[in-house]
Amino acid sequence: MTHRFHDLLALESLSADELTFLLDQSKPFQEIQKHPLKKLATLRGKTVALAFFESSTRTRISFGTAASRLGADIMNLQAEASSLKKGESLLDTVHTLNAMKPDCLVVRHAASGAADFVARHLDIPVINAGDGTHEHPSQGLLDALTIRDRKGKINNWNVTILGDIRHSRVARSDIHLLGKFGCRLTLCGPAMWVPRELEQIAPQAAIRRVFNVEEALDGADVVIVLRVQTERLHEPALSASDYVLLYQLNGERLRRANRDAIVLHPGPMNRGIEISPEVADGPQSCVLEQVTNGIAVRMALLFLLCAGHDEEGAHPSSEAQQPVNRRAADVKDPSHASR
Ligand code: NCD
Repeated sequence: MTHRFHDLLALESLSADELTFLLDQSKPFQEIQKHPLKKLATLRGKTVALAFFESSTRTRISFGTAASRLGADIMNLQAEASSLKKGESLLDTVHTLNAMKPDCLVVRHAASGAADFVARHLDIPVINAGDGTHEHPSQGLLDALTIRDRKGKINNWNVTILGDIRHSRVARSDIHLLGKFGCRLTLCGPAMWVPRELEQIAPQAAIRRVFNVEEALDGADVVIVLRVQTERLHEPALSASDYVLLYQLNGERLRRANRDAIVLHPGPMNRGIEISPEVADGPQSCVLEQVTNGIAVRMALLFLLCAGHDEEGAHPSSEAQQPVNRRAADVKDPSHASR
């Protein structure tokens, strides 16, 4: 079954079928990461605009690398050095970028709902690279791809999410996605970061809150550790050393999980705070696989959203049309379509 997408703003609204399609589309791009020559011509002549209004290392580099490995050009907004500093609004800034005619816009912003807002005002495809505490859909997809690869399937696992779930867009995207595949979700962290409302965010999903970390890890197949935003740790309510004592995922605690449990962390990690070095670097950790899979997922998304628009707006240059004049949905294996 194939699907067409105009934007990727959230995982909440996608079906298990659509999510499976996106994961399957990432597969050939995973293979490309293993080749000595990684560059394709699939999006030659296309331009991807990266509009990161909030700091980012891996997501920005990952989208940029994905775009360039597909042969696209990149337009890069440096928030710190841009007119934002002079008071320009979000909307004026993205309209200005759009006037330079990119084919797709990847946006990160500190406000929840910013990506939807931008998408409502632009005709080109918009990808949400993280909006406030709302969603981070490409991270949810790369987490799912990593789980599927390591554990052979995505369905019906016991998944424990550990940390500041309240402020985490990664946790929300993961919960929406994994809930659609029948995974049972245990949310664990300090009570102020795991409010009761979280039990209701994905109505079909089995979600429970557990405040004791050992109990939350019992029988887990997948453990997703979230970054502690250290600016949110305040003495005397909760200090960094309290957090380590009560919630850090260390080797001894991980033994409560199933023997073949895997550990994910979206990065950046605060080593020694939410995760011990022994676990971060241990055989159960998938942290670096997540980073590698991020490129494949983002290549698939850019391919589906940018190449899929060719028929409606044909490129005036016939040379530029050549590698990409196929509908995304018709291309079974994009790695062979236009190498
Ligand atoms: C996450 C984010 O920015 O939401 N990082 C990322 O994209 N890899 C998680 C985080 O910053 O804690």
